[in-house]
Amino acid sequence: MNFAIKGDILYSYDKKTLVSKKDSYVVCENGISQGIFKTLPNKYKGIKIYDYTNKLIIPGLVDMHLHAPQYSFMGLHMDLELIEWLNKYTFPEESKYKNMKYAKLAYDIFVNELKKSPTTRFSLFATIHVPATLYLMEKLEKTNLKGFVGKVNMDRNSVKSLQEKTSESIRDTLKWVEKSQDFKNIKPIITPRFTPSCSDELMLDLSNIVKDKNLPVQSHISENRAEIKWVKELVSGINCYEDAYDKFELLGTHTNTIMAHYVWPDEKGIEKIKKNKVWIAHSPSSNRNLSSGLAPIKRYLDMGIKVGLATDIAGGSYISMFRAMEDAITVGKIRSCVVDNNHNGVNLKEAFYMATKGGGSFFGKVGSFEKGYEFDALVLDESKIPTVLMPKLNIAERFERFVYMGNGMISGKFVFGKKIV
Ligand code: GUN
Ligand code: FE
Repeated sequence: MNFAIKGDILYSYDKKTLVSKKDSYVVCENGISQGIFKTLPNKYKGIKIYDYTNKLIIPGLVDMHLHAPQYSFMGLHMDLELIEWLNKYTFPEESKYKNMKYAKLAYDIFVNELKKSPTTRFSLFATIHVPATLYLMEKLEKTNLKGFVGKVNMDRNSVKSLQEKTSESIRDTLKWVEKSQDFKNIKPIITPRFTPSCSDELMLDLSNIVKDKNLPVQSHISENRAEIKWVKELVSGINCYEDAYDKFELLGTHTNTIMAHYVWPDEKGIEKIKKNKVWIAHSPSSNRNLSSGLAPIKRYLDMGIKVGLATDIAGGSYISMFRAMEDAITVGKIRSCVVDNNHNGVNLKEAFYMATKGGGSFFGKVGSFEKGYEFDALVLDESKIPTVLMPKLNIAERFERFVYMGNGMISGKFVFGKKIV
């Protein structure tokens, strides 16, 4: 299946460089970008063309970390910090997904909203429940979006209704991995919730599954200062939170790994994050709502650590990755003034990079229109943005304006060459 989309094209080449092409074509062959052309080469004459002349076209946006079952209470419960918030609101809500009637109702709404959103790729947390997690995967598979879904593991420090026995957690994980094999678009990812939720024995068993089955890993790290203090009490023989995963070879030792947040790095631990090529999922909305802190994202980018952006629903209070980009810039600037005192915060180019190629690299060649990248694209709807300045703006300026004022409105969405919206 070959086709081209035509319009005003913008992508991030690297974190310092935007590439824009006015009135051009991106050609897709079997889900893969063949690059950008000002005029269509002869060999593509006659292929289907989606004509979005004068519209902005960018690569799809990647949400590195969000919780599907928390969509039901997004925008509520902003009065507590992480541990209290989990115990009072989040764990009781996630317990409800044992009931398939509730799970179906909630996941149908979530999947429908994700499909319409600017997100093309994602890495999701589900809950501990295998039937509900498989239902979520089936629904997502049918949308043709692509991503990872994790059945969550947790065998300690939860509410009674959301806590597994260690052996049960491992048995269910193996069963769920087995049943996930047939999906094409949606893949399983091993998901120890975070150290306070997982005993040493569970971490060790999960690490063995990761090695045996060559599966990626996602978890949370160093989000909140009370959490970090608690982790050092919970795990013996460690100096920092990073070691609590490294001890069980779950810090990118064997397979691709996403760690959400990383607001408070340890000076020894950060070298392991870098060396093991762990992806950090930065969630500025969540870090603000849960009063977790101001993550040093500029430093990570400058060090060459892999960083993607994330909504972290429902710690985060929106689904639009455009808002995550705006907030990454805002939080980066605030930090650069009040913490680092260097007035050198995250800028638009870096935020765009993180939301496309930065996070996209977790999924393979994703996040760009360069030849050989998987063809994920968004067509932006600028129609509601006041137009008096528009004719004078270049493509990059129009994009900047869209990030701040576009309300995430899209008029087209493609994933791996398939039209979603
Ligand atoms: N740490 C462990 N679980 C969670 C969660 O559900 N949300 C956030 N933001 N952090 C966590
Ligand atoms: Fe999270």
